[in-house]
Amino acid sequence: MLRKPSLLLYLDLQHIGYCLPRDSSRYAALNLGNGNQHFEQLSQTWSQLPQDVYLRDAGTYRYRRYVVLEVSTNKTHVLPYEPHYQNSSYNRLNGGFSRNFATFSPSVLNNPVFQQVLNWSIAMISRPDAQNWKVQCHQFRITGDEKQEGKPTPEGIHQDGAEYVFIMLIKRHNIEGGVTRLYKNRDTIFEGMLAQPGDAVLLNDKKLFHSVSSIHPLRKGELAYRDVLVLTFHQR
Ligand SMILES: [Fe+2]
Repeated sequence: MLRKPSLLLYLDLQHIGYCLPRDSSRYAALNLGNGNQHFEQLSQTWSQLPQDVYLRDAGTYRYRRYVVLEVSTNKTHVLPYEPHYQNSSYNRLNGGFSRNFATFSPSVLNNPVFQQVLNWSIAMISRPDAQNWKVQCHQFRITGDEKQEGKPTPEGIHQDGAEYVFIMLIKRHNIEGGVTRLYKNRDTIFEGMLAQPGDAVLLNDKKLFHSVSSIHPLRKGELAYRDVLVLTFHQR
């Protein structure tokens, strides 16, 4: 299959505000998902996420970990622990106060797949010049059952307050829903599913808004969950 080179993907990102990394030969070469042992090891860490106790809708459907990195070309280091804070203008539901989340485990930070997608994203957003980035990294699990739907974006259509956002699907288990939508000037410019492990979107958070629809179990009586890795990039 003919794959677009990364340059065209970069132009997508600049001109339409987002790109789908699976279209890139360099990203495809990472061979993420089924059959990649490092991806499988990374995926398993999502079963050890503490519950997010800060949801103001009183929901118990979100589990997460959080760490902040400083990344420049060829160099990454973990910044000292800081609570997660989002301005309430970006997050009307859960913004405006500090939230303390458990940090990433070393097995995630040292995982080759985690490092590859981080470096791939940095390479994409740092063209043409190398830049320094503060990267907020989130492991999210959203669950759903018959009593409670899972809301990947309980704040609705929103921006994250970053320059760029990378969202990669780790796993969908027993779910329907979870449709990703991107918006420009209130128009929907992308609607689609991150369906397979490793499917991702990289978006310009200054230009676009985003949302993900609620999830529900396909098979009743069995827990449903959607695992994603989200990286938000802030220029230093
Ligand atoms: Fe978001």
